[in-house]
Amino acid sequence: MYRDFAYVYDELMKDVDYDAWVDFIEKVFQTYQVRPERIVDLACGTGNITSRLASRGYMLTGVDISNEMLGIAREKSRKQGLFLQYINQDIRELQLHGLVDVIVCMCDGVNYILDDTDLKQVFERVYQYLRPGGLFLFDISSHYKLSEILANNLMAETEGDVNLVWFNNFDEKTNILQMDLTFFVRQGDLFKRFYETHFQRAYKNNEIIDLLRQVGFNIDKVCADFSLDPPSKDSERIFFCSVK
Ligand SMILES: C[S@@+](CC[C@H](N)C(=O)[O-])C[C@H]1O[C@@H](n2cnc3c(N)ncnc32)[C@H](O)[C@@H]1O
Repeated sequence: MYRDFAYVYDELMKDVDYDAWVDFIEKVFQTYQVRPERIVDLACGTGNITSRLASRGYMLTGVDISNEMLGIAREKSRKQGLFLQYINQDIRELQLHGLVDVIVCMCDGVNYILDDTDLKQVFERVYQYLRPGGLFLFDISSHYKLSEILANNLMAETEGDVNLVWFNNFDEKTNILQMDLTFFVRQGDLFKRFYETHFQRAYKNNEIIDLLRQVGFNIDKVCADFSLDPPSKDSERIFFCSVK
């Protein structure tokens, strides 16, 4: 996953309002009256959130399993003159050098963790590396979005020279969405075709809350769709704010 895709990820995400996303993250900081110094961005991808947080004055470390995504993140922050660290790790095996104030994981990182044991391990690692009183903020694509909107649908997208056709298959027994992605990327007069298969788990909010509690977190807020309001049954993006 996120190999050749890494090189077209930012083009396909061009319409995502990452500035507003980071505004929302800072709104959560204000709500909790935290002014963090050190932040870790898990499953940071090409660093769209990591670099924006760094340019707002925080000390950032981005963590991702894809070397290709990190390569692009590093190149972008070099060009922007930002000083931040990117490390290539599986978040299930997270290892940091010390405690941090805030850990975030945005835009589906948690959906890529497919079973409860692995997700509990991620939460345990996060708990281990947060200072007491530290904040853990992450989002998921909701169960509703994966099981009812994306499920068993054929989708297509075109952005500039990048075309994506995308077939989704949802397994109701495992709650796992399989996404078969076929890319066609223009190279001169021809198109390069490549494939990736991604798997995302649809979690019910309570399943997540149970796991967070099991590792010792206080769940302070579950909210949706870039507001601090509670989720409704058709919310597509759910945010979990937990304090150690
Ligand atoms: C949809 S992208 C989100 C990237 C970024 N957070 C953003 O907002 O654009 C999901 C990212 O999760 C990463 N990822 C998936 N499983 C992971 C794992 N086990 N450990 C670390 N990163 C992982 C992928 O490599 C990919 O970069």
